[in-house]
Amino acid sequence: MFDNIPDNNGTSGLSSSSDDEDRVLTGIEGFDEICNGGFLRDRTYLVSGNSGAGKTNFAIQFIYNGIVNYGEPGLIVATEEKPQHIRENVAKFGWDLKALEDEGMLAIIDASSTKIGVPSQEKFVDVRPFDMRSMIDQIITAQEDVGATRALVDSSTALGFQIQDPARIRVELLKLSSTLEILGLTSIMTCETINENEVSRFGVENFVTQGTVVLNYHKADNVRTRSIEVYKMRGSDHSKKMHPYDITSQGIVIHPNEEVYMF
Ligand SMILES: Nc1ncnc2c1ncn2[C@@H]1O[C@H](COP(=O)(O)OP(=O)(O)OP(=O)(O)O)[C@@H](O)[C@H]1O
Ligand SMILES: [Mg+2]
Repeated sequence: MFDNIPDNNGTSGLSSSSDDEDRVLTGIEGFDEICNGGFLRDRTYLVSGNSGAGKTNFAIQFIYNGIVNYGEPGLIVATEEKPQHIRENVAKFGWDLKALEDEGMLAIIDASSTKIGVPSQEKFVDVRPFDMRSMIDQIITAQEDVGATRALVDSSTALGFQIQDPARIRVELLKLSSTLEILGLTSIMTCETINENEVSRFGVENFVTQGTVVLNYHKADNVRTRSIEVYKMRGSDHSKKMHPYDITSQGIVIHPNEEVYMF
């Protein structure tokens, strides 16, 4: 068991930070406990994992909870899935993103449609061809519109493929990650991985972010199990173990007092 999991004070299953730093609660059941009280404010985190692991759900839950539970407006940059698909997918968890957009608490930037050359009806649309400066300008516009303090870029991998040159991927993603922090956003960038031994796709994303959370959808004996690991968290203690999690009808639920044994 993680020695530093703070006492549960009985408020919606969340724990509080054990130090003086300003923590941003994700409100994702079990997660704030395994990272010693939530993310550090104004920092960018990588959430990586294989396809279907639950990266998008995890990250949207962070944004949704931020608005609904903590009054922190959010913005989402959708580089891979169409915003409308994201809205429909997470509606199954009872999360009504459209209502939050209508209330002026959430902005979604469509950075997927122009990439594949189809028109978009969205309010915020990124331009083509891809250019990091333009994307950052869109982020600033969207942030001003809703006053966002939380952000999600889903996914960094799609951006990496736009940039192509490996050396530039690191520089451009560092630019994005640092800009989000300067803008006063606590952010998640998602990242697709292909094999279980890697924590990022291009081998650089975890170096340009302040922390890395790995979601793993692992197959053994014809059964798939889900595990989460806080792989890195600069400036913070955290659980060093892999913990099981489920995707339920209410979203992601992590079991901080259970461990996963890979075989
Ligand atoms: N309503 C639901 N109830 C339970 N599980 C669900 C529900 N909706 C989706 N899931 C699970 O979530 C998975 C998809 O999660 P998500 O889209 O967050 O994955 P991802 O890691 O972002 O994948 P990708 O890399 O393909 O984008 C589905 O494959 C399914 O197992
Ligand atoms: Mg996804």
